[in-house]
Amino acid sequence: MMGASGPLPPPRVTPTQLRVAAPPTAAVTRPAPAVTPGRTWEVSASQSISYAVQLCPGVLEPTNPALARAGTDPDRDSRRRFVVIDDAVDELYGNRIRSYFAKHEIEGRFVIFDSCEERKTIDSVLELVECLDAFELDRRREPLIAIGGGVLSDVVGLLASMYRRSTPYVRVPTTLMGLVDAGIGIKTGVNHDGHKNRLGSYHAPVHALLDPTFLNTLDSRHISNGLAEILKIALVCDRQLFELLMRHGPELRRTRFAAPELSEESGEVLVRSIQGMIEQLQPNLWEGQLERVVDYGHTFSPTIEMRALPELLHGEAVAIDMAITTMIAWRRGMMTRDECDDVLDVTRSLGLPTWHDVCAPGLLMDSLRETTRHRDGLQRLPLQNGIGRATFVNDVSYAELAGACTDLRRAA
Ligand SMILES: NC(=O)c1ccc[n+]([C@@H]2O[C@H](COP(=O)([O-])OP(=O)(O)OC[C@H]3O[C@@H](n4cnc5c(N)ncnc54)[C@H](O)[C@@H]3O)[C@@H](O)[C@H]2O)c1
Repeated sequence: MMGASGPLPPPRVTPTQLRVAAPPTAAVTRPAPAVTPGRTWEVSASQSISYAVQLCPGVLEPTNPALARAGTDPDRDSRRRFVVIDDAVDELYGNRIRSYFAKHEIEGRFVIFDSCEERKTIDSVLELVECLDAFELDRRREPLIAIGGGVLSDVVGLLASMYRRSTPYVRVPTTLMGLVDAGIGIKTGVNHDGHKNRLGSYHAPVHALLDPTFLNTLDSRHISNGLAEILKIALVCDRQLFELLMRHGPELRRTRFAAPELSEESGEVLVRSIQGMIEQLQPNLWEGQLERVVDYGHTFSPTIEMRALPELLHGEAVAIDMAITTMIAWRRGMMTRDECDDVLDVTRSLGLPTWHDVCAPGLLMDSLRETTRHRDGLQRLPLQNGIGRATFVNDVSYAELAGACTDLRRAA
């Protein structure tokens, strides 16, 4: 379902309309214009990026101006916004969202997007283009606003990067996955032809407003889903965060980070994960450096997630990937048996799986080959080196993957 405007289906080019070019026929030779051969123009520019990722509890409180002002110049603000809202969020918070904009004298056009991984497609982006055209967006004065989870954030981010080549947008993540990961970086994307995030872009939001009170209404499976990305940061960069998860993870999950007696711990877990993620992303926003510790858990998971769709959520696939690499690290002597058991115990205590039956060694090997192509010919696989540190390896073999699968299947 897409909101009120009833978009027309976009025109399509089916593959049968494309044809393979025939070999060129000899062209008639004419005198060339008098230019110096080899004359070259070097074009070089650099783009600086700056955007705020702001903790903003109570973002929908009528007295909080942050969302109304985000991404605008008060002197040039048109007082109109195109707001894309996750359907579940609209049911729960729709009235508050509408009265927020009304209170700030902003005319909102609210488009409801039914978020799920299957809707993370280029068709969804094109449907939104139709709605944007109907709205007659003034892109210099009217930043798009995305209120929802990682799926919506990825779709609207891609839309914003393509619409008139680049349109500013504001992210308001409403899931834990969004708060600690999808809502704070600059990547956008949609799945295509069975491949995770096959189409996408790097397009920074102008502002990301993080309000953890949205977690109050999130179901516990999606809390666990976000905890997978927090666990990732803990395992490869922050041992203290891992210890916090070990001690308080199950209670944070049960209470959706809202237990008054754990408010300090909830805050610390959220802030450490956001900070850890930003520290990793910022020096490498366009991912020119291919050894990225934040790729931990993201080598096998894209294939596992797509193969198991709709059974596994993104974070669940990441958790399984992390369990596989934990076993490989243990088999290589990079972790002790106790550390390995702690990781698997904490994963399970957060409500996350460590195994799925799609994980045949052949499939994992295919996934590793695909990732290797993506990482310029080397595996660059982050493996845990103890807890809280990572080392990159390039020589993981089929036999190691088969061994890890056997261990995990047995444990499951
Ligand atoms: N771009 C990035 O850097 C990046 C990083 C991590 C993940 N991702 C992507 O994020 C996606 C997963 O995001 P997700 O886990 O947020 O899933 P999601 O967006 O599908 O949201 C999960 C579910 O929660 C509902 N929901 C959202 N907010 C709610 C709230 N406050 N209360 C109740 N229900 C609510 C949604 O309707 C949906 O059913 C994946 O596609 C993943 O690839 C992107």
